[in-house]
Amino acid sequence: MLQLKEIYYQPATSEKLVLEDISFKSNNQQPIIISGPSGSGKTSLIEIISGLSAPNKGSILWNGQLLKERKRRSICGVVFQFPERHFIGLTVSQELKVGHQRISGELQSNILNKVGLDNINNKDSPEKLSGGQQRRLAIAVQLIRNPEILLLDEPTAGLDWSVRDEIIQLIKTLSKEQLLIIITHEPDLFANWEICNYQLLNGVLKKYNC
Ligand SMILES: Nc1ncnc2c1ncn2[C@@H]1O[C@H](COP(=O)(O)OP(=O)(O)OP(=O)(O)O)[C@@H](O)[C@H]1O
Ligand SMILES: [Mg+2]
Repeated sequence: MLQLKEIYYQPATSEKLVLEDISFKSNNQQPIIISGPSGSGKTSLIEIISGLSAPNKGSILWNGQLLKERKRRSICGVVFQFPERHFIGLTVSQELKVGHQRISGELQSNILNKVGLDNINNKDSPEKLSGGQQRRLAIAVQLIRNPEILLLDEPTAGLDWSVRDEIIQLIKTLSKEQLLIIITHEPDLFANWEICNYQLLNGVLKKYNC
């Protein structure tokens, strides 16, 4: 269970609070969906939860244990918005190996299988893949680390509707294995799931359906 207690966040370069008094608990393994207007603090919240930034005040617990940034970074996997823009490997295989030089071919195939990329050649360049396949690869890159919490920032952004539905299906499968935190401006895409819906407005989080 993930718990945030009274999180306040104001980056040194910001004149105002970006996140204000945020508290919530995850409900079993139900995915958490967070929506809200541009600039409301969604990406900042992902950065705080995953340990990429530190809050000015407040605490974050995982299964009852207080976790500092370093530990949060180790249990969280983050798929940022338009992740395919940040591929650095010359091949799919190299991309999966970034930061994990020693992963076996078997683990690579298992992960590619899990995200529905079992039919691609891992010697190909990531740029050769379709938009939906690239998004799957970006998710695979995080799954290699076997995160306990997977955070997805606008995972369907920029995809056409048929690919979008496929990615939603993939995310649904993944939700059985780890806690998902999904930022989206299309919460309706997840409407018939067992989820907790939150909305961020000017840095303040409100639960509206859980
Ligand atoms: N490091 C920083 N320095 C200064 N301001 C920041 C910093 N990080 C975030 N902010 C400000 O905090 C607010 C929230 O930003 P954030 O990127 O979290 O919003 P968002 O909800 O993800 O927006 P979008 O939907 O456009 O991605 C914005 O006003 C942004 O300018
Ligand atoms: Mg954002």
